[in-house]
Amino acid sequence: MATAGKQTDGPDSTAVRVALWRAMHLQVDAPPHVLVDEIGLQLAAPDEGWRARPDMDPAGTSGFRAAIVARARFIEEMVVEQAGRGVVQYVILGAGLDTFAQRRPEIASRMRVFEVDQPGPQTWKRKRLIELGLGVPDWLRLVPVDFEASESWSEQLAAAGFDPRLPAVVVSTGVTMYLTKDATAATLRQLAGLAAGSTLAMTFLLPTELLDVADRPGLQASERGARAAGTPFISFYTPQEMLTLAREAGFDGAQHVAGTSLAERYFAGRSDGLRPSSGEDLLVATT
Ligand SMILES: C[S@@+](CC[C@H](N)C(=O)[O-])C[C@H]1O[C@@H](n2cnc3c(N)ncnc32)[C@H](O)[C@@H]1O
Repeated sequence: MATAGKQTDGPDSTAVRVALWRAMHLQVDAPPHVLVDEIGLQLAAPDEGWRARPDMDPAGTSGFRAAIVARARFIEEMVVEQAGRGVVQYVILGAGLDTFAQRRPEIASRMRVFEVDQPGPQTWKRKRLIELGLGVPDWLRLVPVDFEASESWSEQLAAAGFDPRLPAVVVSTGVTMYLTKDATAATLRQLAGLAAGSTLAMTFLLPTELLDVADRPGLQASERGARAAGTPFISFYTPQEMLTLAREAGFDGAQHVAGTSLAERYFAGRSDGLRPSSGEDLLVATT
């Protein structure tokens, strides 16, 4: 594999970081909370001093923390809406420490939820879910896949019970920057072949020059941190490039959702100034 994560039976460090940002949101930001996730922290079980990590600095990294809870909330609303329309398959690509299944069992248990991630981190997550007594119910399927190693992971998904004749809601947050553009294009081609009525939401990092000037040093610092941690950001996309990729892959519809538009949606009227930094946008594509 060319890029992200550890290949050992431990958590992926990038997945832990975003889970800890979701936890920090509850600990340092005032209500109303954009997302309430208490379980990610339990799964991660970080060392006692985790809040002193430089990447958790409450003020210095508030824009990243806000962006992570904003995208999670956007995705969650989309999944709930799709479930309400009768979609019963939910695929989470690069699921990391996603906790939708544990936090929203009333919805998730009426679906089949497929969490796709690297084999090692996934073995670790299964173990943690069992240790915490949360378990892995039959409707939750953990599918080990390395997107860089296998062009076609849809077979692994089918083997785990995915029905290609039924529509699905598919999400991928915080993953494309760790993958080669070829791997993401291959993923998009597979997803474009899903049953009609399927929806994909996928986040991507913007090239630095498209960021608000004030956000550029933060992105550069996080790029340096990612490289030092062995999980470098290797792929950035302009919105147009991502839309073109999705259309060329065969999606019927492709829309760009700016990360900053989530600020208006979820952070308007806050008195603490918490707002997502610019830098990560979303593709929403339909079959
Ligand atoms: C930043 S985390 C995001 C986790 C989750 N989507 C979220 O938003 O909380 C990136 C995830 O992508 C996964 N990932 C990175 N490279 C991968 C690859 N080549 N194959 C499968 N998963 C990969 C990592 O294991 C990790 O869980």
